[in-house]
Parts: sequence; structure tokens; C-alpha cells
Amino acid sequence: MSMRRTATRLIAGLVGLAVAGVAGAYAATVLFGGIGGDPQTQLTTAVDPQLIQRGQYIAAAGDCAACHTAPGGKPFAGGLAIATPIGAVYTTNITPDKATGIGNYSYGDFERAVRRGATPEHSLYPAMPFPSYARVSDTDLQALYAYFKYGVPPVAQPDKAADIPWPLSMRWPLTYWRWLFAPGIPAARVAASDDAGRDRGAYLVESLGHCGACHTPRGLALQEKALTDRDGADYLAGGLVDDYVANDLRGDPMTGLGSWSADDIVQFLKTGRNADTAAFGGMTDVVEHSTRYMADADLHAIAQYLKSLPARRQDGFAYAPAAGAALAAGDVSARGALDYLNNCAACHLSSGRGYVSTFPALAGNPVVNAADPSSLISIVLHGGSEVATDATPARFAMPPFGERLSDQEIADVVTFIRSRWGNNAPSVTPEQVAKIRAAPHAPISPYPAGDPRAAEQAAAADR
Ligand code: HEC
Ligand code: HEC
Ligand code: HEC
Repeated sequence: MSMRRTATRLIAGLVGLAVAGVAGAYAATVLFGGIGGDPQTQLTTAVDPQLIQRGQYIAAAGDCAACHTAPGGKPFAGGLAIATPIGAVYTTNITPDKATGIGNYSYGDFERAVRRGATPEHSLYPAMPFPSYARVSDTDLQALYAYFKYGVPPVAQPDKAADIPWPLSMRWPLTYWRWLFAPGIPAARVAASDDAGRDRGAYLVESLGHCGACHTPRGLALQEKALTDRDGADYLAGGLVDDYVANDLRGDPMTGLGSWSADDIVQFLKTGRNADTAAFGGMTDVVEHSTRYMADADLHAIAQYLKSLPARRQDGFAYAPAAGAALAAGDVSARGALDYLNNCAACHLSSGRGYVSTFPALAGNPVVNAADPSSLISIVLHGGSEVATDATPARFAMPPFGERLSDQEIADVVTFIRSRWGNNAPSVTPEQVAKIRAAPHAPISPYPAGDPRAAEQAAAADR
């Protein structure tokens, strides 16, 4: 799934830490002590159907299924491979099966795994987004535990050991990483402001939604550069996942959500599309397993919070009609113009404005204008398919052009659209296209987990 590349980089960084960190880890043990939390802690809430149902909602908001369900596998039984250059890491079985799942977990064990990144046996790879989940409230965590203990059917399926050879498989550097980069539980509490809606949105985005795991740039040790807006303007300023840019979600007009209304954001999270754009890459997983299930009030809170994040750059978008007029008049003298007309204009139009709610506008589009062209190159190479939800069942597909167009042609056409209709982003070279073409490309399944077609697709991709 879409966290693969991120995890790869995380683990590559951890290998570096393993080499550099022996003395440091010892010092950290002395300085910081244990992981905290108490495995003996029990639930303080009575378990009733409402609590379990609430827990199911929290699990959707936390998107647990996207990672803990393998394509075609049983819900939450784990086994999804997260590839790394030194071997694969597998997600674990978090159903209540006593022998192979987490059926023996006390509430305290669960709390430590989800919020602090440590099982009774070892520290977890930060592919499990515990630095964000550290902020999950006690109330929500208790409901989540009740759901995984009593609401999810147990599945007997042993965890797969990571394919990472010794000594890289040693997990102690992870402990060190956790001490350095994962927030402590009290420090992680969201500061209350005088606006309950914004606070609710901040909570959902920073904790359960773990939006920053993809949308915040990462530092040298692959930690997120900011875990909340209070840590600085890097928060949600845009990250790279599997050669797709998880866009800037701050207020920047050209590259962020500056030109989106709160309702545009709500519609996008609920249905995977809105009048101007459609989800693709790792974001389809997020909509499909998580945000489409969220209550309207919560989606509005998220939108209100995102709209409150100040822009880092203020340059705005103004539509320029000249390029569209030239194309419409058959003038294809500009480099890339003929490629655009032959391959793209049928859907995105010579005006670059697309069709509302069907084909995204390329004029003023943050994907097209992003400083890093990775997403743009990826979607032209591999195509994309819009998310299907109950509200919007039909899918419109963006065809893949990897087979049809050369690196030079793709560079020309994306450079063309980055500098037309008012767009203003640097040109793209054939070398940049070649690099992304050569990278392994994980097909993003358009089918929900558990759907047999997802398994067929995964099998086809292995062949
Ligand atoms: C982005 C992917 C991702 C998401 C989202 C995610 N997990 Fe995980 N989780 C992992 C990985 C990978 C591991 C195993 C890490 C390792 O082996 O070090 C893991 C491990 C765990 C463990 C330790 C399990 C064990 O078998 O001992 C628990 C408990 C857990 N996750 C619960 C959850 C819950 C609850 C959610 C949703 C709130 C969730 N996870 C969401 C990737 C994820
Ligand atoms: C697994 C990685 C991942 C996670 C987690 C994630 N996103 Fe995304 N998101 C992406 C990628 C990749 C894109 C770019 C593709 C697209 O526009 O659909 C994106 C795009 C978006 C966009 C559209 C931006 C634009 O300018 O077109 C919005 C809005 C968004 N995400 C909101 C969120 C919110 C809110 C959360 C948390 C609830 C979240 N995302 C969590 C990967 C992720
Ligand atoms: C058959 C119609 C069709 C053609 C031809 C087509 N596209 Fe698309 N394009 C789409 C659809 C549908 C989407 C939304 C896909 C998704 O969300 O996964 C899309 C999405 C995009 C996006 C992402 C925009 C966003 O906000 O989601 C870009 C950039 C893009 N196309 C560029 C191009 C370029 C460049 C070409 C020509 C090389 C092209 N398209 C040809 C239908 C088409």
C-alpha cells in the first residue's frame, strides 16, 4: 500500500541509526527510562454495544484496516507486506485470536502498542503511525480496545516475521528512535482553544487521521518534521509517498488548499472527489477505508481546522486564457502542445479546465503546480482511477501513458501544462521521468479490502 516507500526510507534511516546509535541508545536508556504506560491497566468503562460501535468508528477514523488487512485477506488479520530494500515488514494480526492475534492483550498492552509503539515483546517499526496515535484520547482508546476485543471476529493467522536479515533485524534502534521522535503521552494532549470545532478537527487530523504521516515532510532520521501546527509551519506542508506528493494541506493558494472552500474539503474526503479534483495514489486508500465513513460533523471539523492553517506562500492563481485560445485555434507550435492535444485535451480540454466533477481541471491544480513534479509524472505514467463510494459509484479513469509516450514526450507535455493557463511551475526533464518510470510501482487497488477482485489484482501484479 501507499506507505511502502515511506517505510522503506524510515527503515533505511534506522539502519543508519543502528550504526551510529549504540552509545546513544545506552545513554537514552539511562536518561529516559522505560516506555511508560502500565500493562496491568484495565478498562474503566463498561463494555456495551454502544462502546463497541463507537470503537468501530474510531477504527475507521484511524484507518487501521488500510494497513492491517492484506489484499483479499480477512479484516484486520494483517499480512500486508511493506517492502524495504533490506527485506519486507508485515503488518500484524490485530484480531482477538488468542494464539495469533492480540486476544491476550490487556487494555494496558493495547495502550502501549497503539500510543507508544511497543508490544510486550519489542518496539514497533514506525510504519505503524504511533507518533500520531500518541494523541488519541483515553476515551477513544478504550472504545477502540473494546471493538478489537469484542467486535472483531477472531482470525487464526500467524504473523509473518520480517524478511530482514540479522543484524539489521535487531529492534533496539527502534527503541532509540521512539524515544527521540515519538511524543510522550501528556505532551501529546491537544491544547484546547476557544473554538470547539477547530479543536475537534485538530484532534482528528493530528491523532487518528495521522494525516501528517504522508502530508508532512520528513527529516534526516525520517521523523515527521512537525507533529502538530504548534511545532511549526512544516506541519502538513507536503510529503512524498511512493512517488506521489501528498499535497500541501495548508493555506497556500497555488500548492495548498488556499483556493478550496471548507465544503470542497468535506466533499473530497467523503466521496474522493469534488468539482475540481479527484483522489489518487495513497489518498484513495484513505477515502475508501476511512474518511468516507466519518460523520459529517467530523469532516466539517477537519475542514475547519485545515482552513485555519496559515499559508507559507501567498502567490495566487489567476486563469490566463491565451494558451487555451491558441490550442483551440490549432496552434501547436509550443513544445508539448501537440502531445497535449493528442493525448490529454479530449478529457482535460484545451482550456485546461476539465469537466466539473468528472475530469479534473489542470489550470490552477495543486498537483500540476507542486514544486516536486513526482505526482504529476506518476499519474501520467501509471494513470489513476477515482474512488467509488456509495455517494458516487461511477468511476472515471485516467489512462496510463507509460507505454504510449517516451520520457521526452512526457517531460514535454507536463512541462507544457505546468506553464499554461496561469500555472507557473518549473519545467520537467526526461531524466526525472526516467527515474520514476524505473521505480517499482505498487498498483493501488480500487477494490475495498476483502473484495475477491482485490486479491485477483494483487496476484496479477505478482505475475
Ligand atoms: C500505516 C500503516 C498502519 C496503520 C494505519 C495502522 N497500523 Fe498497526 N501496525 C502497522 C505495522 C507495520 C505493525 C507492525 C510493526 C512491527 O512489526 O514493528 C503494526 C503493529 C500494530 C500492533 C502491535 C501488534 C502485535 O501483533 O503485537 C497493534 C496493536 C496495532 N498495530 C494496532 C493498530 C490499530 C488499532 C490501528 C488503527 C488505529 C493501526 N494499528 C493502524 C502498521 C499500521
Ligand atoms: C497514506 C498516505 C496519506 C494519508 C495517511 C493521508 N493522505 Fe491525503 N493525500 C495523499 C496523497 C498521495 C495525495 C495526493 C493525491 C491526491 O490529490 O489525491 C493526497 C491528497 C489529499 C488532498 C487533496 C489535495 C489537493 O490539493 O489535491 C486532501 C484534501 C487530503 N489529501 C487530505 C488528507 C487528510 C485530511 C488526511 C487525514 C485524515 C490525509 N489526507 C491522509 C496521501 C495521504
Ligand atoms: C480519458 C480521459 C483522460 C485523458 C485522455 C487524460 N486524463 Fe488526466 N485524468 C482523468 C481522470 C478521470 C482523472 C482523475 C483520476 C483520479 O483521480 O485517479 C485525471 C487526473 C489527472 C491529473 C491529476 C489531477 C487531480 O487533481 O486529480 C493530472 C495531472 C492529469 N490527469 C493529467 C493528464 C495529462 C497530462 C494527460 C495527457 C498525457 C491526461 N491527463 C489525459 C482523465 C483523463
